[in-house]
Amino acid sequence: MLIRFRHRTAPLALFGLLILAGVGAGDLSKAAPSKPKSTKALFTESCAGCHGPRGNGGSMGPSLLTPRAKTLNRQSINRIIYSGRPDLGMPAFEFTYSRDQIKALAAHVLKLQGRGAGKAKRPIKKGKKRRAALSPAEQASVNRGRQVFFNEARCAECHSVFNYGGRTAPQLNRFAKRKTRAQVLEAIVNPSAKIALRYQTTEIVMLDGTVLQQWSRNIQPKTLELYNPEHELWTTYFKADLKSVRTLPESRMPANLLDPLTEAQREDLLNFLMTLK
Ligand code: HEC
Ligand code: HEC
Repeated sequence: MLIRFRHRTAPLALFGLLILAGVGAGDLSKAAPSKPKSTKALFTESCAGCHGPRGNGGSMGPSLLTPRAKTLNRQSINRIIYSGRPDLGMPAFEFTYSRDQIKALAAHVLKLQGRGAGKAKRPIKKGKKRRAALSPAEQASVNRGRQVFFNEARCAECHSVFNYGGRTAPQLNRFAKRKTRAQVLEAIVNPSAKIALRYQTTEIVMLDGTVLQQWSRNIQPKTLELYNPEHELWTTYFKADLKSVRTLPESRMPANLLDPLTEAQREDLLNFLMTLK
């Protein structure tokens, strides 16, 4: 892909200054199509210093290839690159790159994670094929099921599917891959039976009594990181600042979500979920 490169990228250490001075923004208007740079080159210049040459992590930035990072969708990655997380050491690239360049960088991250659009992995094609093979009646049921997912069953209050929906629960884009209908149903009616390790909920209580329940990672003797769904990033907490830390034995997902649905709605919902491969 050809990216129009608009100004010579400053060395990493200068980003902060450029952003403060607003220099990057001013330069964006001066197109220099004679010097196109590949997205890979942009990544090497601007991201690799912290995230490693292949996104595998470094002392300044986390690996972008972790299972958690792979649950970030394209939109979220875009937003992270655009706005950064300055308080956590991730700079904003809003004034450094054009929107197209940021989109291309997000696509590059997905590619490094093995889920880029260009190098689509088998599951995507498989899913498409499977969807194409549905009869009109099955397709209609899937469409109704999608409505149920977003409305009556309230799944999308917590979960997202292909960028739409909530952020406090895992995205379900490929959930049904290698799962039988019975297993998918079981995950809904009995959410606490089997919680993937990375989705186990950690509850922290702060000194002022505030309670947070979210996924955690990198639990160390003095610190731990808790997922922040609002910003879709991880926040570090010092255990000394907390009253208590514990892993919840049960799921945060309510067990009775299917109860208010009609039999037909349940069927449609299941048919929809089975297309998520
Ligand atoms: C100065 C170091 C630094 C640079 C440069 C940097 N990042 Fe980051 N990045 C971080 C840190 C630190 C975090 C973790 C923030 C947190 O803990 O929430 C992060 C988080 C991320 C995340 C979210 C990962 C996750 O698991 O939540 C993505 C995606 C990301 N960076 C992509 C990029 C891309 C693409 C670039 C280049 C355009 C880039 N970063 C440049 C330091 C950096
Ligand atoms: C109140 C928030 C909430 C709602 C509403 C909700 N879920 Fe969940 N769900 C979660 C959380 C959190 C998890 C992560 C693991 C756990 O705690 O069980 C989860 C896990 C899952 C999983 C397993 C995902 C995996 O990768 O292991 C499936 C499938 C699922 N939910 C489907 C649904 C469906 C379908 C609906 C609507 C009928 C729904 N959820 C409604 C919060 C919710």
